[in-house]
Amino acid sequence: MAKSLLVLNGPNLNLLGTRQPEVYGSTTLSDVEAMCRAAGERLGLAIEFRQSNHEGVLVDWIHQAKGRHSGIVLNAGAYTHTSIALMDAISSVELPVAEVHLSNIHRREAFRHVSYISKVALGMICGFGPFGYVMSIEALADHIGQKS
Ligand code: DQA
Repeated sequence: MAKSLLVLNGPNLNLLGTRQPEVYGSTTLSDVEAMCRAAGERLGLAIEFRQSNHEGVLVDWIHQAKGRHSGIVLNAGAYTHTSIALMDAISSVELPVAEVHLSNIHRREAFRHVSYISKVALGMICGFGPFGYVMSIEALADHIGQKS
């Protein structure tokens, strides 16, 4: 069976395309999903793509990824900067996580400079818009030894 990755999106990312386009651009979340699916196809990886505005739901989906997926691409949105629960969930499942942000969080407000996800992620990509998701998928594919 083909290996797969979970691409997980947190709060407000369902509004991508209309939400603060000067910060996040005009690409919608379904455009991002299409980019992820194309990258997965190119690399021979199945992609499960999800979004929730609810912290506990994201925790549940991270738990369920164990044994089903080989890694997680995670844009936790604002929970990045607050959620010890998401950090602990990642530590609990021991799956490689590529943290991604559309914007460069280090160029923005000080409260965005702290990431609980970075403390347990394999690595982090930010500031490259939706292409960051493609880079994250490529980085995880390389990490898990997936050849295209
Ligand atoms: C974000 C950055 C976060 O600070 C913000 O709360 C988001 C989106 C990004 O993709 O740039 O919701 O994760």
